[in-house]
Amino acid sequence: MLNGHYLTGSRGSEIELSVNGSSVVCHRGDTLLAALLASGLRSFRRSIVSNEPRAPCCNTGVCFDCMVTVNGTSYIRACMIDAEPGMAVETGDKTDG
Ligand code: FES
Repeated sequence: MLNGHYLTGSRGSEIELSVNGSSVVCHRGDTLLAALLASGLRSFRRSIVSNEPRAPCCNTGVCFDCMVTVNGTSYIRACMIDAEPGMAVETGDKTDG
């Protein structure tokens, strides 16, 4: 859910999560997608048809190209949830940055 940080232009406090085993710092109120993109990731999974890397496209929960595994739960759309402290995130494409 969006919160007031976006309306005021201020940022939430820094929080830390794990992405593919590496520490990522973002801000409370960031979506998980924003945190992942800010960390430098561009591809989160591969096409089941061509095995080509797929990148998030819509940022609205429609394309499903931002699916990641969060705390062991698969098929989470990163654009639909907030980043939370201590999250353990795994992408399906650990070779692309
Ligand atoms: S970016 Fe399209 S569903 Fe998340």
